[in-house]
Amino acid sequence: MATGFIDELTSPTVKYLRERWWNEAFTEFLTETLRPRAGNRILDVGCGEGIAEVQLGRLHVSQMRLVGVDLMIERVIVARHETAAHNQRGLFACSDACHLPFRDGIFDSTFCVAVLQHISDVEMAIRDFARVTRVGGRVVAVEPDNSARYSYSSTPAGRRAFEMSTPFFSALAAARGEAMEAAIGPKLPTLFAACGIEPLEVRLFPVSQTQLGAPPDEVWRRRHDVVEQVIDQAPNDDVRNLGREYLTALDAYAAEARKAGSSFVEIQHTMLFATVGQKTE
Ligand SMILES: C[S@@+](CC[C@H](N)C(=O)[O-])C[C@H]1O[C@@H](n2cnc3c(N)ncnc32)[C@H](O)[C@@H]1O
Repeated sequence: MATGFIDELTSPTVKYLRERWWNEAFTEFLTETLRPRAGNRILDVGCGEGIAEVQLGRLHVSQMRLVGVDLMIERVIVARHETAAHNQRGLFACSDACHLPFRDGIFDSTFCVAVLQHISDVEMAIRDFARVTRVGGRVVAVEPDNSARYSYSSTPAGRRAFEMSTPFFSALAAARGEAMEAAIGPKLPTLFAACGIEPLEVRLFPVSQTQLGAPPDEVWRRRHDVVEQVIDQAPNDDVRNLGREYLTALDAYAAEARKAGSSFVEIQHTMLFATVGQKTE
């Protein structure tokens, strides 16, 4: 069970896309929609550890320049290292998606994957995507609807843990002043239109994970450790207390799952909404 993929029990967002998500179909979709041509400049906002640069770099489009920016310097360093390790080129910089350090119309296309879900002023970011993209260029944003995730557990403690995860992570976000838009994915076409980007297409990518039979101990250890770490960093006692109750529920879930053995079932499912647009003005 790859709980680093989607796991509502450890994160309120689709956090770890990495290789599991960047499969051939998705790379093909991005290539089709970004339409990389020789000499093009393409911007990846919130590039993370550079997986898009490695995948798109494999196309070997001559003189195409891929530029990745991310808010976290550690990610930028890994992205640089990863592209170099794959013998590919990419330019990377540390930057906020809402204040891109580029002049108007410099990019032929701009895209982001699972980034706007972390930003409080999404419209500001999309306006900046439009600003740095040339007229007629593509803007592509791929984001989930974190308010519409599906989960199922065959054990009562599992259902209780899933029920408790949303209020816990919501209380944490509220206490930290991180009021993100959970249902960002389906709202992108409207936001694009408001920012001078004509919406051309919305493509849905389902992301699912099923577990039959009790997961190994390392899965439970990871879930426990992630939540414990979040509790340690909780901004106030209310969140900490909620967290402790949640952790108790998670541990009870682990015990029930072990007992259920081969009859255990857990299913998680979510959807990514890929919106393709064209800069019009
Ligand atoms: C879920 S990861 C996705 C990474 C990458 N796009 C991928 O598909 O593998 C989200 C990334 O967005 C970055 N991020 C969050 N807020 C940002 C902001 N305001 N400006 C730029 N990057 C941001 C995070 O640092 C993180 O690397």
